[in-house]
Amino acid sequence: MSTYYKDHWAEIDETRLERYEAMFVWRAEQDPSLTALDIAESHSVLDFGSGPGFLSLRLAELVGADGQVHGVELNERFVAGARARASDAGLEDRVTFHHVTDEQIPLPAESIDRVVCKNVLEYVPDVVHVLGQFFRVLKPGGRVLVMDSDWGFVLVNPWSPDEVREFFGAAAGAFREPHIGRRAPMLLRAAGFTDVDVSISAFADTEGRAMRVLRNMEQYVRDLEALPVARVDALMGRLEDAVERGDFLFSLPQFLVSARRP
Ligand SMILES: C[S@@+](CC[C@H](N)C(=O)[O-])C[C@H]1O[C@@H](n2cnc3c(N)ncnc32)[C@H](O)[C@@H]1O
Repeated sequence: MSTYYKDHWAEIDETRLERYEAMFVWRAEQDPSLTALDIAESHSVLDFGSGPGFLSLRLAELVGADGQVHGVELNERFVAGARARASDAGLEDRVTFHHVTDEQIPLPAESIDRVVCKNVLEYVPDVVHVLGQFFRVLKPGGRVLVMDSDWGFVLVNPWSPDEVREFFGAAAGAFREPHIGRRAPMLLRAAGFTDVDVSISAFADTEGRAMRVLRNMEQYVRDLEALPVARVDALMGRLEDAVERGDFLFSLPQFLVSARRP
């Protein structure tokens, strides 16, 4: 189980695959979170951990016909699905999806204008190595944007704070770095980046859409056998009841950390 945080992405079952395709759809109202990247036409952009490819496809639209997007991804099925989506959207000339298993970015040094990495760094075996790869592929003056959560910063009603800690503590083996949100600025500076800027974007879900995130966590807790089955059932049952009654509330603020290669 010691590399579960990576293995659970390399192999994804059908249920999770479907859940992710719904969870990771990029919506137009998310575009402002890319502002710090200052993406322009003809830019070349790396999307590390591109998953089903929705963000990469949006980036391909933003860089225009003279731009290039590279999605780099561990899971083969995500890569295949992303390629099919690019082709369906007529964007296959400007977006390339690379399948990698070793965190080596298959691009030349100083070849990329912008790097974006959304909800990935919490899972990589060696975040310092990956940030070093971002630095290597970026042109001098190029920008990076890390978008990530921090699992010490999650709120779930009707669970008590102790229950939140119990449940997310039991899921901890699914993450290499559950507190990447707060650590990303320091790690980017240590990798040689400058002009590090941090902002936090928060929302509150009261309708139960976040149950997808919580079901994902539930699966980690069950796979890791980190809590008794009856306890997981009881915790999840209370969430379902709360959604039904209308007193569910979930918040997981996202850290937006941008920086520049000098
Ligand atoms: C939470 S998903 C985010 C997907 C996408 N960035 C998004 O926000 O829509 C994490 C993604 O990182 C990928 N990933 C995890 N570890 C990786 C690694 N070591 N190398 C490349 N990709 C990785 C997973 O396969 C998955 O697609």
